[in-house]
Amino acid sequence: MNVLVVGQGGREHALAWKLSKSKKVGKIFVAPGNGGTAKESKCYNKKIDVNNFSALEELVNSENIELIVVGPEDPLVNGINDYFQNSSVQVFGPTKEGAQLEGSKIFSKKFMFENNIPTGAANFFSDSKLAKRHLETVEFPIVLKADGLAAGKGVLVSKKLGEAMQWIEDIMEKNKFGDAGNKVLIEECLFGTELSYMGIMTPYRFYPFETSVDYKPLLDGNSGPNTGGMGCMSPSPFMNDELLKNINKQIVEPTMNGLRNAKIDFYGFMYFGLMVKDNQPKVLEYNCRLGDPETQCLMLQLDSDLLKVLLDALSDDLKNISWGKQSSMGVVIASGGYPGSYKKDQHIEISELDKVKLFHAGTKDYNGELLTSGGRVFSLNAKAPDLESCKKIIYTNINNIKFNDMVYRKDIGDIYES
Ligand code: AMP
Ligand code: GLY
Repeated sequence: MNVLVVGQGGREHALAWKLSKSKKVGKIFVAPGNGGTAKESKCYNKKIDVNNFSALEELVNSENIELIVVGPEDPLVNGINDYFQNSSVQVFGPTKEGAQLEGSKIFSKKFMFENNIPTGAANFFSDSKLAKRHLETVEFPIVLKADGLAAGKGVLVSKKLGEAMQWIEDIMEKNKFGDAGNKVLIEECLFGTELSYMGIMTPYRFYPFETSVDYKPLLDGNSGPNTGGMGCMSPSPFMNDELLKNINKQIVEPTMNGLRNAKIDFYGFMYFGLMVKDNQPKVLEYNCRLGDPETQCLMLQLDSDLLKVLLDALSDDLKNISWGKQSSMGVVIASGGYPGSYKKDQHIEISELDKVKLFHAGTKDYNGELLTSGGRVFSLNAKAPDLESCKKIIYTNINNIKFNDMVYRKDIGDIYES
């Protein structure tokens, strides 16, 4: 079977790599892919934008593609599943309506309120004057969120009234995020330990993935600005039986019931962003995709055949997913300046790597030369009997990768409670 993976990050490299291990997979097309997917066995990059559905359709038809696996949220929110609804190719990922759980923070907050899913209290505003007036009445810190997708930058946790007022002005009056900021939420700030809980959701069952921890801040000690994620370890030391039971009963089951009641047939990845205190979880956000760099860790852990898992889930025939017992870890290597501005087109040197898997993200192949093309450039991953061994393997290899202004955290694998 030929497969199309949509996206270009480390997550998509890991998905394509794991799919390539499946005997039933023929060719894997990655649109647009990166310098790593271009070199992976069975994989072919196609320079097509993830939201250009008609160009993807041409590729699907000309290459006999039977399954599309969608990595990022944008094409899902823009309706890639709906676009291919009347064709024979199957799309792994929810419809436009289901993807609203991620695409509209107001939709998702209302969904949680209606289904009694624990989450922070929030008010919604489409008028900046009313939003500013409300800010004068709340306790700080407070959380401000743009309703629509804003490339992961649409949330501000603010301690000061002046800063919050400025945010409202930038987002609602100066349209910093375009239409995504026409409406905003002003939300109660939750405290505790953040936890990502991911898996595959179908209308009647949720299949959890191995647990994982994302290191969001840029710098060692979990300090500095938030990023898309600077590293990952799996399994998570923060999960326990009671918490798992609470997550399933209070969040996963009511989410599935709520989707069914709303007549939304949800088949795809689901990522619950949670805040946990005293084993009580509350939802910060839904994502209808997998995390990056968590996927890179998880694909190393996955024992099952990924193609079979996805196809069985789509036909309500998935029994279980089998995960290896070993630990898995990944360290993100980024361009200096990220998550702000950074240089691109930097020459990359890679010498011998041993016992690691290097997933590419912001790289491109330019006439045979590997160049940087993004903020997060690689995730260097290892699987070993324990986290200490993973850590040793990765940090021994990391100096064999070199480009100008390369940065990475030196403490991935350390445990930070909150
Ligand atoms: P979101 O995209 O909604 O997950 O927000 C991005 C990040 O903002 C989360 O990973 C949290 O670190 C933080 N955040 C979001 N909502 C809240 C909240 N209600 N209380 C505290 N932190 C939050
Ligand atoms: N690593 C966090 C995310 O993918 O949203």
